[in-house]
Amino acid sequence: MRNIVIAIDGPAGTGKSVTGKLLASKLGIQYIDSGAYYRAITYLSIINHIKLNEINKINEIARNLKLNFDGENIMLNNVNISKEMRSLEVSNRVSLLAKIKPLREIITEKLRHYKENGSLVMDGKDIGTVVFPDADFKFFFTSDINVRAARRQQDLVDYGYRVQIDKIVNEINKRDEIDMTREDSPLQKATDAIEVDTTFMIIEEQVDLLYKTILQSVNLEDIKK
Ligand code: CDP
Repeated sequence: MRNIVIAIDGPAGTGKSVTGKLLASKLGIQYIDSGAYYRAITYLSIINHIKLNEINKINEIARNLKLNFDGENIMLNNVNISKEMRSLEVSNRVSLLAKIKPLREIITEKLRHYKENGSLVMDGKDIGTVVFPDADFKFFFTSDINVRAARRQQDLVDYGYRVQIDKIVNEINKRDEIDMTREDSPLQKATDAIEVDTTFMIIEEQVDLLYKTILQSVNLEDIKK
């Protein structure tokens, strides 16, 4: 039995989270949404009126942050913040905050601790490159921008937000640009990651592809839960 780490990275709206969640449950292991950390800190900075240049205050929030993943929900001190975290206000600000190097170090450290609890699937932007460069499996999801925006619009409807498609295209394009060009741990495909273009795929196919790829080199019984 051994701990295995599965990293899924890629731009916004490529289906990383939903695939990661289903894959983890199929394998019987933990799923961690690393973006939830960046989003939760952004949300807390907004409600506490903390400006982007108040880096010490932002880092303080990050150090004290304890998130729990309760199935579909992201819990912060027993409060479900899943909806608040996905607001357009948070999305428009999160990448600016995610550029802060010391903040990334605090979060990366927290993310690495999950490995102590057993095997895991983690999705994000720098999982295969920085958080777990030795991950057993690395996937990099890509997808056409219009498909990504439509998926994100549906996610937002599910959370009770109505946002026009052009606003979403704009938001994800801007965020991807900042994420890909930042100095510290930019969003990029790890050289040893398998690229998966999800434009014409449905969720079940994505889960199946990853599941089969993993089981080609590991026995299910050997995966530590
Ligand atoms: O919308 P999407 O699923 O792509 O993003 P997310 O996973 O919810 O992450 C929101 C934002 O947090 C990203 O756009 C990045 O700016 C930041 N992030 C990061 O910098 N590194 C990670 N490992 C995860 C998220």
